Amino acid sequence: MGLRMPFGGEEMTATDDHADFIRGLPKAELHLHLEGSLEPEQMFEFARRNRVSIPFRTVEEVRAAYSFSNLQDFLDIYYEGANVLRTEGDFHDLACAYLARAAADGVRHVEVFFDPQTHTDRGIPFSVVADGFLAALDEGAKRFGVSGGLIMCFLRHLDEDAAFATLDAAEPYLDRLLGVGLDSSELGHPPSKFARVFAAARERGLHLVAHAGEEGPPDYVREALDILHVERIDHGNRALEDGALVARLRETGMTLTVCPLSNLKLRVVDELIAHPLKRMLDLGLRATVNSDDPAYFGGYVAENYRAVARALGLSRDELAQLARNSFAGAFLDEATKARHLAAIDAYLEGTAAAS
Ligand code: ADE
Ligand code: ZN
Repeated sequence: MGLRMPFGGEEMTATDDHADFIRGLPKAELHLHLEGSLEPEQMFEFARRNRVSIPFRTVEEVRAAYSFSNLQDFLDIYYEGANVLRTEGDFHDLACAYLARAAADGVRHVEVFFDPQTHTDRGIPFSVVADGFLAALDEGAKRFGVSGGLIMCFLRHLDEDAAFATLDAAEPYLDRLLGVGLDSSELGHPPSKFARVFAAARERGLHLVAHAGEEGPPDYVREALDILHVERIDHGNRALEDGALVARLRETGMTLTVCPLSNLKLRVVDELIAHPLKRMLDLGLRATVNSDDPAYFGGYVAENYRAVARALGLSRDELAQLARNSFAGAFLDEATKARHLAAIDAYLEGTAAAS
């Protein structure tokens, strides 16, 4: 509960005040799976228009099914949900809806994931998926002023040959893709399994990221750095178990794309007050806040900032640091980063003057 205090002639709570501050704070989102932004209402709409049957009768039934014990529990339902996506228009509409929500949350730049194999394995051509998502990103820049790039993830529960086939399918699109990532079931599928395909992606000039340390041990984070040569670690929570690894992440300024509500829903943490985000900041790590799969985990990026600010008692300075980290860790040129960082400074000056 926030303190009650007067504000503009009306009473407002301190937590509401934080909510406004967070919403207006310019930020980037670096860890968002487009398929994970499929809201139950959209699932019904896409199912209806594509005549796909789904095992739910109501939106409430869908939401009730979103109770997970671990990552695999979630992935089972997430891949099933993606089955309603069939046409280029579906992929376009899905991403446009996400970009509208992101813009409303103060997001100025996104680097979003998609899972081509989830679609190509059920007969949807790579081009249908990529054309839909790329058109949405173009539209998002024009309509909402949100810049963005696409990161193609390899599903780590599949083998490396399948990842190579995906890289081949992406060949005509490589100049429009920002990079490659690695996602899906982490335990038992270490980064080293994808050493050759990441090397091939690197040769093609793509940026490299990988999920590591969400459920997997610190060694998976090390492998992502040493064997895959990633430029960001997605999640990275379990890196904190290893002091030498923490020192290395701090010294190299490695960005961690942390996802608080995802960690709560997938039981990576038992409760948000136990979330390591503040500890990461205190350790000097470049942590960022992201929403991962917001339709499944109960909140888009601003809600992740709010929830973790409330649970960990984050100050405005710490929230601003998280937003700065999001631009510092983005695959943007230095001049563009500087422009975004200046927008944060201007915002802080404006909000300090107003309060
Ligand atoms: N795919 C979508 N969300 C994911 C997550 N949090 N971890 C691994 N793979 C994912
Ligand atoms: Zn993720």
